Amino acid sequence: MSYQNISEHIEDHILTLKIDRPKKLNALNRETIQELHEALKSAKHDDEVKVVILTGGGEKAFVAGADISEFADYSPKEGKRLSADGQEKLFNYVANFPKPVIAAINGFALGGGLELAMAAHFRIASENAKMGLPEVSLGVIPGYGGTQRLPQLVGKGRAMEMIMTAGMIDAQQALQYNLVNHVVSQEDLLDFAEELAGKIMKNSLVAVSAAIRAVNANYEDGVNGFEVEVNEFGHSFGTDDFKEGTSAFLNKRKADFPGK
Ligand code: COA
Repeated sequence: MSYQNISEHIEDHILTLKIDRPKKLNALNRETIQELHEALKSAKHDDEVKVVILTGGGEKAFVAGADISEFADYSPKEGKRLSADGQEKLFNYVANFPKPVIAAINGFALGGGLELAMAAHFRIASENAKMGLPEVSLGVIPGYGGTQRLPQLVGKGRAMEMIMTAGMIDAQQALQYNLVNHVVSQEDLLDFAEELAGKIMKNSLVAVSAAIRAVNANYEDGVNGFEVEVNEFGHSFGTDDFKEGTSAFLNKRKADFPGK
């Protein structure tokens, strides 16, 4: 499928989705959110795709936020709809995606950009990356999950400070805050992300998917994550991957997971 605002590349079962509006620092307008949703939806059902990497086009930005020019004259009702639609179509969709999603932050990740990276299952950043939630400097608050996911990742005090000051942190500080897992040079960023994807793909992706659901359950209101874990754990015993993984171990050979 051809898109106007994003580009896709599939190689070795890794789908790299690039938000590609570099002249606007990859700002997320509605169309870009829709295109990302569609690309992810087809990736969900595409057996060729096992891991997704999200990154930004150009050398300057991952995503510099929601497109400010698009919502500058919105009413409260339209603002609420923008937030709810975006959360449903993209941010929660990424967080609950059944295949691993890695954010490769290659520059500015601000506002909706950082929120998108935080919705991914984990993040790596290039040395030049800068991250922040500057919404209060525009008279609005983060609306794509930032008030919830930033405290989960960095702790309440740091999140409050970042949100209230609207300031940016650099990649090293993001690493110190546990906001990103690794910092590498911009040149090495995608190779490094692919290397991590390769390590994941050696494992049972059926089990990886169950692990995503169990970890996410910890962050869902009214859901007992331990119970979800017990159920997912039990369910694993009925999969072909489990039979293959355990028999390979016991027979001292490398597992070749059927992915079922
Ligand atoms: N929405 C819409 N357009 C954006 C944007 C956003 N979030 N971020 C950047 N752009 C556009 C700029 O308007 C500019 O477009 P123009 O060339 O047509 O004027 C272009 O991208 C380049 O940005 P510019 O500001 O000239 O680059 P810079 O290097 O001077 O500054 C930033 C980079 C990231 C510091 C600055 O663009 C910025 O503060 N962006 C907004 C960040 C933000 O508040 N995001 C949260 C939104 S809720």
